[in-house]
Amino acid sequence: MEIKTVDLTKIYSVGSSTITAVDKVNFEVNEARFIAIVGPSGSGKSTLLNLVGLNDYPTLGKIFIDNADASLLSSSKRRKIRLFRMGFVFQTFNLLPTLTALENVELPMSLADKPPKKQREKALGLLETVGLGKRLFHRPKELSMGEMQRVAIARALANNPEIIIADEPTGELDSKTSKEIIALLFDINRKEKATVVVATHDEKVVDVADAIYSIQDGNLRLESQR
Ligand SMILES: Nc1ncnc2c1ncn2[C@@H]1O[C@H](COP(=O)(O)OP(=O)(O)OP(=O)(O)O)[C@@H](O)[C@H]1O
Ligand SMILES: [Mg+2]
Repeated sequence: MEIKTVDLTKIYSVGSSTITAVDKVNFEVNEARFIAIVGPSGSGKSTLLNLVGLNDYPTLGKIFIDNADASLLSSSKRRKIRLFRMGFVFQTFNLLPTLTALENVELPMSLADKPPKKQREKALGLLETVGLGKRLFHRPKELSMGEMQRVAIARALANNPEIIIADEPTGELDSKTSKEIIALLFDINRKEKATVVVATHDEKVVDVADAIYSIQDGNLRLESQR
């Protein structure tokens, strides 16, 4: 999947004041890249990821998905792209507390109407891949933070996405666990050829990225790439 933004802008209004959270961003995400976006708190990282992940609408400017203008897509088409072609990972995991690890991973496949037997098979394989083959029936509160993030990554992979969008995936984790989670995302990028876009404060993510962008007051800048 190729994503391109043209003068992408998000302006929030709060009372009588406005905040330009994303300011005329021209950003291109090419297939199979590992991209890091760094910037201080409040610089616009989450806002940008929400726009690129079709979870929010820009105030001005455009997003193109494989050269199609996302603003012209119906909300059901946008939902389909999110469900079938994108995977999301968050700082606080966003797992459903009442579901087991296995059921959390099956959920996106269930929403995609995959046959139950296929869901189970795939979820088992993914949990094995992320090292949680022995935690299948644990609920989120029975897992460590690192384990919760592994479940979240397995869930993000459930429908074989072309791109993983991760918003500070190691923000809540200690240094050793962060390393493991980054290694997992890196593996997914290299082996599954999934594009990975990570917003982060974590230098360890920056070390493995193919391209590093910085964002400041909503202005995105390419810092380096290999
Ligand atoms: N729903 C909203 N309504 C109004 N202002 C918002 C909203 N969401 C974010 N903002 C503002 O937009 C700016 C960018 O916020 P954003 O959450 O994108 O930053 P961030 O880089 O992800 O920060 P952090 O590193 O703390 O997660 C901030 O100034 C924030 O206060
Ligand atoms: Mg954020």
